[in-house]
Amino acid sequence: MDRIFSGIQPTGEIHIGNYVGAIRHWVELVDRYECIYCVVDYHAITIEHEAASMQKRILDTATVLMACGLTPDRCILFVQSHVPEHTELAWIFNCITPLGELERMTQFKEKGRQHRHNINVGLLDYPVLQAADILIYKAGYVPVGEDQIQHVEFCREVARKFNTRFGHTFPEPQVLLSKAPRILGTDGKNKMSKSMNNTIGLLEPAEAIWEKLKTAATCPHRQRRSDPGHPEHCNIFTMHQAFSKPDEILDTERNCRTAGIGCIGCKEILFKNMIEEIGPIQTRVKEISGKPEFVTEALRSGAMRCRLIVGKVMDEVRSKIGVKSEWLAG
Ligand code: TYM
Repeated sequence: MDRIFSGIQPTGEIHIGNYVGAIRHWVELVDRYECIYCVVDYHAITIEHEAASMQKRILDTATVLMACGLTPDRCILFVQSHVPEHTELAWIFNCITPLGELERMTQFKEKGRQHRHNINVGLLDYPVLQAADILIYKAGYVPVGEDQIQHVEFCREVARKFNTRFGHTFPEPQVLLSKAPRILGTDGKNKMSKSMNNTIGLLEPAEAIWEKLKTAATCPHRQRRSDPGHPEHCNIFTMHQAFSKPDEILDTERNCRTAGIGCIGCKEILFKNMIEEIGPIQTRVKEISGKPEFVTEALRSGAMRCRLIVGKVMDEVRSKIGVKSEWLAG
């Protein structure tokens, strides 16, 4: 069975962009692939972070993933720092990565602008650690949102460089995009992202979600209720495509184009469908939060299963680059 790897940062709030762009897709893939999903805490420290709340954020993130259906009977779920070989492989990859390639990465430039006072080496090196995450499992596919395509392409490049220099070791993994790979925020302009303050949280109460949807940007060309809308320019319609049933999507599109429905009416339908889908997840999060050992046990066993895989791969890598000392074991 082909192997899948993907990861999510424990940033404190999983939003519906993360959910429809990645997590829901991860759940769909578990029956067809051997899936390994990771809470990437070492990526999360590339921007300033609060150490005191890190454990809570890691466990909260894992709780949501499990509530969405990523339980240990269906996939491997673990925390990146519990398998330190990821950072070891990242160091090795550092030594075959030209600096210029990292400086050109879009996300580095964006994050550099957002965190001018803290442009640390880890931020620059972020894609190298991500490449190590993926390649250490020799994963064939990486389900991510559109913003991560460049990082996966970079990962393929790292695999190529390593293979050329040290002999074939890693496959070149391919991106798998979900059907909603790019969700904009409530501002209708920027990607939904915690740093842009434009998110709808997966765990927010229904009333709070409605308040955000009510004022969320729609088609910029539609000024009055009587103006025909352009769903292709409307982030609310993109969300419909992620949450509504096919016939409702068609109806909404038609009614928007003919001004048969106003933006509020359109948002009401979206809200109903969104709550129908995320309501049960919120209920499961509450249930699982009452049994924290269910989560910690899943993460502990996940890390153990990963260590079995990465031990063999790192042996092969150390041997190929010439740092494996056979005499050490004896
Ligand atoms: P993170 O935590 O920023 O995002 C997790 C996933 O959510 C997707 N996503 C979105 N999809 C659609 N619309 C949005 N507005 C939106 N915002 C976020 C992201 O594309 C991602 O799939 N760098 C990774 C974490 C990572 C990783 C890995 C991923 C570390 N190592 C190895 C794959 C393989 C990230 O962006 O996490």
